Order: sequence, then C-alpha cells, then structure tokens
Amino acid sequence: MRFIQEPEHRPAMGMGMGRGRGQGMMGGGMGHMGDKDHMVDMDTIHALFDNVKSIKRTVRKRPDGFESITESSDPKVATMLQGHVAAMKGRMDKGMWIRRGDPLFRALFDNADKITIEFKTTPKGIRVIEMSKDPYVIKLLHLHSEAVSGFVKDGPAGMAKMHPIPHPPKEATPQPKLKARR
Ligand code: HEM
Repeated sequence: MRFIQEPEHRPAMGMGMGRGRGQGMMGGGMGHMGDKDHMVDMDTIHALFDNVKSIKRTVRKRPDGFESITESSDPKVATMLQGHVAAMKGRMDKGMWIRRGDPLFRALFDNADKITIEFKTTPKGIRVIEMSKDPYVIKLLHLHSEAVSGFVKDGPAGMAKMHPIPHPPKEATPQPKLKARR
C-alpha cells in the first residue's frame, strides 16, 4: 500500500460537536497568542475525547515507529479524526506546539524534525505511519501511539493525564581542556 501525505485540513469551527471551551486548561490563553488555530484544534480534540465510544483503534509497533488505524462508526467523528491528524502534522511541520505541559507532547514537538508522519484516509477514519531513524525518538513514537490508545480507552477522564518520558540520551559534550599547572 502506498501512503501519501495530504495537505493540511482543519474542520470549520462549529461542526456541531465541539464544545467551545475557549480559555480552559488547554484553551487559547496568552501562551498561544499568534496561534490562530489553537482554539479550533482544541475544539476538535475535546470533541474526539467526547466521542471515543464510537472509535476503534489498532496499533502495530515497528522497529522504526508504528502504524495505526483509527476509525469511527460515526462519519462526523471519522472526519474529525482525519482533520486532527492532518492539523497535528501541520503543527509538527511548523513547530506550532500544543499541550507543551505534557512531557511527551513537548518532546515530540522538540524532535519533530526527526519524525516522518505519513497518513492516508480510510472510509471510516485514518491510517497513519510514523517513523524515525533516532532510537530515542522511536521510543517517543511508541509512547505516543500508546498515549493515543489511552485517550481512546479513557475518554474525557484521560484528558488531564500527563505522559512521562524516559531521559533523553546525554549528548557527548566535549570535555574542557585542563590547563597544566606550573
Ligand atoms: C490531549 C489532547 C491531544 C493532543 C494534544 C494531541 C496531539 C497530537 C499530535 C501532536 C499528534 C501528531 C504527533 C504524532 O502523531 O506523533 C497527534 C496524532 C494523533 N492523534 Fe492526537 N492529540 C490529542 C488527543 C487525541 C484524541 C482524543 C484522539 C482520538 C480519540 C487523537 C487521535 C490521534 C491520532 C489517531 C493520531 C495519529 C497518530 C496515531 O495514530 O497514534 N488524539 N495528536
């Protein structure tokens, strides 16, 4: 199967399922000035959380990342899933972070240049492949695939859950040269 990267797509505000929580915990506060899409993207995320009962997801981890299929029996939710993934890929490409207080999402955005995201819509949702060549980033991808599965399992109750990450490998820092004492 061939995977394609599709153009960024965001559903219009007021698809009828968002809840319009503007200034809440993850809403468009001062930290998102200049991020015109933040509220729309959070609206979709809240609506996804509210509709997890209609969502089914399978994940296959690969040595270089993972492949997932996430689908909904509700066509509106399927469209939201497709829009969410495209919008999040757009954010990763542009470094427009979201949920930076959660270590896992922070690390994903910090390492966005080492991640390849490919996706293809299915009639009921979306199929995604995420890969990296960096062993640490591959760990993050595996954790992210589990985090999304947790969102689907827990629904709104999982929204506040933070996702810890393993310590990043220490960069090989050059040792300062010691001056010989006389
Ligand atoms: C706390 C709220 C959420 C945030 C901040 C968020 C953010 C992101 C980001 C940044 C990505 C792209 C990065 C990556 O895939 O590595 C992503 C992918 C994805 N998100 Fe979300 N998301 C949230 C909640 C949800 C929910 C509730 C669902 C569905 C119920 C969902 C479904 C997905 C799917 C299917 C992908 C594609 C990757 C995969 O299959 O694991 N997300 N999300």
